[in-house]
Amino acid sequence: SSSATPSLAPSAHTLRRSYGSESTPERKVAVLGAAGGIGQPLSLLMKLNPLVSRLSLYDIAGTPGVAADVSHINTRAEVTGYASEEQLGLALEGSDVVIIPAGVPRKPGMTRDDLFNINAGIVKSLCTAIAKFCPHAIVNMISNPVNSTVPIAAEVFKKAGTYDEKKLFGVTTLDVLRAKTFYAGKAGSIPAATNVPVVGGHAGITILPLFSQATPASNLSTEDIKALTKRTQDGGTEVVEAKAGKGSATLSMAYAGAIFADACLKGLNGVPDIVECSFVQSSVTELPFFASKVRLGKNGVEEVLGLGPLSGYEKEGLENLKPELRASIEKGIKFAREN
Ligand code: NAD
Ligand code: LMR
Repeated sequence: SSSATPSLAPSAHTLRRSYGSESTPERKVAVLGAAGGIGQPLSLLMKLNPLVSRLSLYDIAGTPGVAADVSHINTRAEVTGYASEEQLGLALEGSDVVIIPAGVPRKPGMTRDDLFNINAGIVKSLCTAIAKFCPHAIVNMISNPVNSTVPIAAEVFKKAGTYDEKKLFGVTTLDVLRAKTFYAGKAGSIPAATNVPVVGGHAGITILPLFSQATPASNLSTEDIKALTKRTQDGGTEVVEAKAGKGSATLSMAYAGAIFADACLKGLNGVPDIVECSFVQSSVTELPFFASKVRLGKNGVEEVLGLGPLSGYEKEGLENLKPELRASIEKGIKFAREN
């Protein structure tokens, strides 16, 4: 469940453990944008995951070096690098999970939406290839703006006739990690044993941490909760500013991406009670896509969980985020329909 931080280190114990009757099944994971700031450490972490039998690394620049490097690690996953668009089909073929951290990151002063013009086209072309070469794969969308790139992916898959709403995920795990870390710092709880659901979307005020549901519970003041909420919403910007022009979160994002992909793989393998927050097609609110807790299973989304009881402050935050989130979703849909 979301409370347990999965071990990413391989162990003989994990390899032998069986889910049901068989040993750990074969699983192919593809990383698109594997040579980037996120892609490289994410590829490393996926190479360390004993649930992965084949690791396919794709980027338009720099793939051979990353693939050769990661491939020397003596873990289960067999690594192959794919370095050009002509090889994208081979990179995707047979994938169970496709993770997409391809695209440009923010610089100081930019919003995630400022990345739309470049990243929308990248995501669209990668998703067109996914529809063709691995239409049944689970897709983990990291490329920003997630609030728009997930709707773009859905439209591309719909057009291709392959859309399965249970298999498309916007990765919001980093928001959850931040909420947990910042809350634990303030409440004095153990970070790895702290849980905070984060709902809504993945940009600014659309990121809505539900500290009223945090565990372990605490009696933090309203001011503290407001400050924690703001810091979680501005977490990405905090890193962008600290990196001062050299990009956005890569290491914490790689970890977050590895946690989420691991949860998807466990779900596929039939491990029960795998729950993570993610931005998915949803009827939790009137918006067509929304991040909330999701139960993962053999077909991807098994159940989109409701929001649970909200504080007055969270209810207000929920209403306030809807116009921006709706606009970002509609912008993605419009782009995909017109291009
Ligand atoms: P980066 O520039 O370091 O790496 C991006 C990589 O994508 C590069 O290696 C580039 O060659 C590759 N790429 C570009 N076009 C491609 C294509 N058509 N096919 C395959 N690969 C392609 O950027 P980064 O720091 O790794 O960030 C990547 C994206 O992830 C950005 O859009 C960023 O905003 C986003 N991001 C999302 C989250 C989140 O929480 N969801 C967190 C951090 C970053
Ligand atoms: C993040 O939350 O760190 C990412 O979305 C990158 C960014 O632009 O903030």
